[in-house]
Amino acid sequence: MDWTRKIHKWASLIVGIQFLLWLVSGIYFNLMDHDKAGGHQYRAHMHQTVEVNKKELVEPNIILAKASPATSIKVINLLGEFYYLVNHEKGLYANFANRYSLYHAYTGERVNIDETFVRSLAEKSYNGPGEIISVKYIEGKIDDFPKQKNPSWQVNFDDEVDTSVYIEAESGRIVGHSDADQRLAGIFFMLHFMDYANEGSFNNIAIIIFAFITLWLSTTGLIWTVDLTMRGQYKIKWFATQRKVKLFDKNKTSLGEIKLSTHNNLLSELENQHIILPSSCGGGGTCGKCRVLISPNAKVTSADAQQFDETQLGEGYRLACQHFANDVEGMTLMDVTDAKKITLQLTSSEFLSADIKELKFNVIGDSFDFKAGAFMRFLIPEGKRYTCPENIPIGYQTLWQDIENKEYQFESCSRSYSIANACKGNEEVTFTIKLLKAKNNQVPPGIGSNFLGNMAVNQCIEALGPFEDFYVTPSKHSSIVLVGAGSGMAPLKAILEEQLDNEYCENIVFIYGARSEQDLIYQDELSELSRNNKKFTYIPTLSRPEKEWLGAQGYGQKVLEMNLSSLGDISKTGFYLCGPQGMMDETIALLKAHGIENSNISFDDFS
Ligand code: FES
Repeated sequence: MDWTRKIHKWASLIVGIQFLLWLVSGIYFNLMDHDKAGGHQYRAHMHQTVEVNKKELVEPNIILAKASPATSIKVINLLGEFYYLVNHEKGLYANFANRYSLYHAYTGERVNIDETFVRSLAEKSYNGPGEIISVKYIEGKIDDFPKQKNPSWQVNFDDEVDTSVYIEAESGRIVGHSDADQRLAGIFFMLHFMDYANEGSFNNIAIIIFAFITLWLSTTGLIWTVDLTMRGQYKIKWFATQRKVKLFDKNKTSLGEIKLSTHNNLLSELENQHIILPSSCGGGGTCGKCRVLISPNAKVTSADAQQFDETQLGEGYRLACQHFANDVEGMTLMDVTDAKKITLQLTSSEFLSADIKELKFNVIGDSFDFKAGAFMRFLIPEGKRYTCPENIPIGYQTLWQDIENKEYQFESCSRSYSIANACKGNEEVTFTIKLLKAKNNQVPPGIGSNFLGNMAVNQCIEALGPFEDFYVTPSKHSSIVLVGAGSGMAPLKAILEEQLDNEYCENIVFIYGARSEQDLIYQDELSELSRNNKKFTYIPTLSRPEKEWLGAQGYGQKVLEMNLSSLGDISKTGFYLCGPQGMMDETIALLKAHGIENSNISFDDFS
């Protein structure tokens, strides 16, 4: 149904533009000078002062005998003279198609309205300062009077508003005056009545088509609104229903039946049932980790289309975070983790640089084991925050100066962050979180980082985890290289702590990139570790160093390239990467160019 949604979108645009035109033209109609807009600025009022002399009138029968066939005959006055106007073909209104002939009322002679006659008629109906500059005979449609269907004369005056007087060619009737003001009003009438073909009528084909489009648009819009509400998109609980869903493991073994609400997506509903699927994007549809097998007939969202190929979509693979229980009768869980919901209590929150904070949490309840490099998914509750972090140390305030500190609201969501310490049986977990600044004053900052970075000490939060995608396989490599930048420090620091105690690992090199010395987090701690531990080499690298900096310069991947030859047999070395996407892409390309196999490269991707 994607194509109907596309049509819906474009139809909405057309309707929206027309609504805007109605608004603009409506404002014009309220403000305009109605006399001027009618083209009547120089229209003279012609009063009949001469009475017809009935005794001198030629008998109408004589005229009708000459002018047969006729539908009607009447006496009219033009320029003070009386004429019989004989109608041979009668339209419903004067401007409709009519055929006339004109006879002098006292002589019975046939009269044609020629240019001289027309000039006199036009001058009589005009009281402006202009002179006639041209006279034109028009047989087709008149732009200024689109409803006029009969041939007419156009008499143009050279006044400041370009007055034109229109006179019907067979009857001498003044069709009307038009001028610049009337023509401008005509444009607004055209826009307001959608008379884009200039038919001079409200009942035109454009407005009829538009009415049908609007009817279709509002009907489908209503249907989709109800549909999305039923799917929980608008989170109106009383619209939600419970559905029974049959569950299977990836070997197609039945796991029984569970009830899922249509209020939340499948990822969240499974979490409520303590079934936790892998996810690093928090349900954003970008990590592709929450895959389930539902039905080939389930609709394909754009996120599904990006994460699965045609074959997989045809088999029924979908992202659990993009679908609701309405789409599902049975569901095969492809990857279920051992993750649990854990309550964490903040014990310390410290700035490590201008935009990176170290958060330490105590685990409430049972402690849990995890591999170094694991991450947790924080369940951020809805709430309010300010765009600037609280209590920024004076030395780091420059970075936040251009941000307007204002309150914003946010919906509940989930965000993933790597644990920055190794699991050593204690009940404390550490995170290094980059506070994502708002890109401008119109958008909020990073919801997850700003929420966590501004939590009060002792405040609790729930998190799902641990998720273990990125870790060192025991006894696989005796030598490892860690390459990271920014908040990519977290999982690498955890791996470093773990591997320093691993006797099998004999050599660890850590290349950590930052812009300036001020951005080097854990600098003292890592430098001291490197000094006191023969198997660990730490290479902090600055891309924008100050003059005094004596260490490595440039990007981490370049420094890695320069040091590859000193790493010994790199085909047996494990490489672990975490940092900005560009840095990881370049590093992976570099390693592959040097013959490193995929199995020896691991990276932590929080897309
Ligand atoms: S959680 Fe579904 S794609 Fe990431």
